[in-house]
Amino acid sequence: MAQLWGGRFTKETDQIVYDFNASILFDRRLYKQDIEGSMAHVRMLQKQGILTAQECEQIVHGLLGILQDVDSGALEITSEYEDIHSFVEANLIARIGETGKKLHTGRSRNDQVALDMRLYVRDEIRNTDHLLYELLQVLLRIMEEHLDTFMPGFTHLQKAQPVTLAHHIGAYFEMFRRDRSRLADILERMNYCPLGAGALAGTTYPLDRGFTAELLGFAGPTRNSMDSVSDRDYVIEYLAALSTIMMHLSRFSEEIIIWNSNEYQFVELDDAYSTGSSIMPQKKNPDIAELVRGKTGRVYGALMGILTTMKGLPLAYNKDMQEDKEGVFDAIDTVTSCITLFTGMMDTIKFNKNAMEASSRNGFTNATDVADYLVNHGVPFRDAHSISGRLVLLCIEQGKALDDLTLDEFREYSSCFEEDIYEAISMKTCVEKRLTLGAPGRAAMEEFLSGCREYIEEEQDLLRL
Ligand code: ARG
Repeated sequence: MAQLWGGRFTKETDQIVYDFNASILFDRRLYKQDIEGSMAHVRMLQKQGILTAQECEQIVHGLLGILQDVDSGALEITSEYEDIHSFVEANLIARIGETGKKLHTGRSRNDQVALDMRLYVRDEIRNTDHLLYELLQVLLRIMEEHLDTFMPGFTHLQKAQPVTLAHHIGAYFEMFRRDRSRLADILERMNYCPLGAGALAGTTYPLDRGFTAELLGFAGPTRNSMDSVSDRDYVIEYLAALSTIMMHLSRFSEEIIIWNSNEYQFVELDDAYSTGSSIMPQKKNPDIAELVRGKTGRVYGALMGILTTMKGLPLAYNKDMQEDKEGVFDAIDTVTSCITLFTGMMDTIKFNKNAMEASSRNGFTNATDVADYLVNHGVPFRDAHSISGRLVLLCIEQGKALDDLTLDEFREYSSCFEEDIYEAISMKTCVEKRLTLGAPGRAAMEEFLSGCREYIEEEQDLLRL
């Protein structure tokens, strides 16, 4: 048992109490951030004359050695220490002796862990952003390739009106673009340094909090020491953003699963991104999409977990807050692998243009356009709607599409129909005519795409420093 606080105790902690209390098995993930924070802290202590230049160099050198050895695997972080902070400090003292004991001057584990988590979450926000950026690049390529791939647009999972694949994918482009901007907002709000808040009430040493904040790339120091050690809003906000990303990925996955079904056959998944059945040789299952959909639940779970943990905590630090870590670590791993695999799946998926077009032809997706045709010939919309509806009924009875009706059949329902009805309700016209800003028509889509291209060119390094 290696702990930092034996002084006032006369008895050893019970082993099961020690194990229950310890966080090393999960907070060892923070070793880089812990060491980075400690180096900035001692540099500031030196600048303020609290440590000598020699002491500072000795400590920084010792910390760098620990960092290298953990990175290379020469030094293992074991459960012999209570937490990552104890591990680093104990190893420092073992390496450089007495001077190592000065590392913790003017600092508490409360502001230390608050800093470590911020640094970690900040890095991960940037990683998530980058992964989304890669996914958006793939979606842009798919859109470029499928401006003319007609497919049914759905409402209630019923064929509604024809759109293009580019337009459908464009909806997801917008979702992930919003996700990135949400991450940028969170980063801006959380990018303040809590170090120097001490246990809760600052310290009596003349610390320069602005200097440490600057060394660590923060916009500045946090403003209230009690809030600094007990704020985990940024963890909650990040988990909320991750949950939203998963919700988007899950909806997309659901569509891929439907599109991959035998009934639809809109897509073919690459062999590398699908799996077989142990018993049914014909199967090619969309397991990646199903797992992404399934794993969404555990990310929501992490969000609910931390919200619930925080809701009853009085100021300032309480040990409950140690529970902020495992959920967020698991959520980060989950979302990282989900975005990565989803991107790979989308990059290799094949779209079955013919099946999509055939499907949009046989579901009366042009019934609204028949009505619109009549409206353009002076028929009030409500009557036009009814005529088109009766034509649909006729087609259902005879097992054909609206385009298959003869001109005479059309004219039995309205004398307004002329030869140009066929052109007016062709799939191409139906889509092309939809030119409203944001609609699937070619011109509107070209405009949308050029905005997407610009975004991909300009917003690549949104969160890079
Ligand atoms: N392992 C603790 C955590 O993760 C570190 C802070 C400990 N502070 C304390 N006063 N016990 O929150």
